Amino acid sequence: MSDAAQPATFPPAFVWGAATSAYQIEGAARENGRTPSIWDTFSHTPGKTADGDDGDIAVDHYHRYRDDVALMAELGLNAYRFSVSWPRVQPTGRGPAVQVGLDFYRRLVDELLAHGIKPAVTLYHWDLPQELEDAGGWPERDTALRFAEYAQLVGEALGDRVEQWITLNEPWCSAFLGYGSGVHAPGRTDPVAALRAAHHLNLAHGLGTSALRSVMPTRNQVAVSLNSSVVRPLSHSPADLDAARRIDDLANGVFHDPMLHGTYPATLLAATSTVTDWSYVLDGDLRTIQQPLDALGLNYYTPMLVSAADGVPDGPRADGHGASPFSPWPGADDVAFHQAPGERTEMGWTVDPDGLHELIMRYVQEAPGLPLYITENGAAYEDEVDAGGRVHDPERIAYLHGHLVAVHRAITDGADVRGYYLWSLMDNFEWAYGYAKRFGMVHVDYATLERTPKSSARWYGEAARTGALPEVPAAPAV
Ligand code: FCB
Repeated sequence: MSDAAQPATFPPAFVWGAATSAYQIEGAARENGRTPSIWDTFSHTPGKTADGDDGDIAVDHYHRYRDDVALMAELGLNAYRFSVSWPRVQPTGRGPAVQVGLDFYRRLVDELLAHGIKPAVTLYHWDLPQELEDAGGWPERDTALRFAEYAQLVGEALGDRVEQWITLNEPWCSAFLGYGSGVHAPGRTDPVAALRAAHHLNLAHGLGTSALRSVMPTRNQVAVSLNSSVVRPLSHSPADLDAARRIDDLANGVFHDPMLHGTYPATLLAATSTVTDWSYVLDGDLRTIQQPLDALGLNYYTPMLVSAADGVPDGPRADGHGASPFSPWPGADDVAFHQAPGERTEMGWTVDPDGLHELIMRYVQEAPGLPLYITENGAAYEDEVDAGGRVHDPERIAYLHGHLVAVHRAITDGADVRGYYLWSLMDNFEWAYGYAKRFGMVHVDYATLERTPKSSARWYGEAARTGALPEVPAAPAV
């Protein structure tokens, strides 16, 4: 064995999946009545994405879903997390669903089930219908009501065959990158709008959870996927500890406190009081947001390292969330972000599997008894096809191995982690980074759209089939 006497063995019912999202893979942007989402508009705006890339074609999953499902089955996966494109099923964000849009997802789900792969549906992975943004977007309360209606339509259509549901993916990114720093769609840079968006996303989660439950069989499970961050202080000085707590409130507490405990952290309200008065939190909202959940999804990539700054730090923020002169951290301009030490992926994100263990154990405390899923984890590397047509990606195998060992350790420590979804099934449109960053375990040739499983896909497939982590190949000679 490489570094342990026995391979880590996972519980027999452990879910071994891969994750994707609609805009990043589907393409078919103008087919069958689909209208633009905020990501279509944003990616078509000059200067917003690397090389002006957009998701018009993406990896053409809309037309190739059968082959993609067959590939997942061949690899040995037993679960697949994907998202529904809101503008494909409800083009204006209001009114009845477009059946042809829902039919695509019915066919996809049937194909998965026929191959023994459990679907997990995310309702919102960032592609708000543009018409709803034109009406004010997430800073406006009505968007949460629209989301509940959309959740009900999708729940009615797929609730008979999909058991695992996720309301929102990473609401932090929707609110703070979309409306704060502006590096994500819709690209607005207004701290008040960002905090309003955070509240209305919380409300959407609560209303959407109730709407789903009102139309679905009770056996179905409803969860949310948070990009809860591990925030570490640079030192244990009171000022650095305070900086870390404030970032923790803005990254985590702003979502998990209302969702799990029905409150906003008092420290968050105090620290943002010069930015907003939170008057858009209406009576009863917190009760609506705090719906009992069947599980919690955690997306983890890398930790954050912060300190108090003497004044407003200059230079780019090393918070791993893209370059923008506008901050995604309202009321925290005096916090400095540092690169965490250690190896980095192609995103510049430090590889830190201990952070995943720490995150899981935090939620064991934060939400006792709630089953946990790692709904995203993975890494971008510069993968190349070799002369023999193979893609060997030992760094990704090492990353996955390290993080799965961390998950295993958390289970041994008493955490109820039920599954792991690798980000991502295949290379795809990585938002503002366009096609420049490859997160897939399956390589995609963007000229031909040919799929080639990387060696990590074979490695992960073996883990999925056996329920134990295979040996890690020796590091390549440098
Ligand atoms: C997450 C997103 C996902 C992908 C990965 C790399 O924040 O949910 O769509 O971009 O990061």
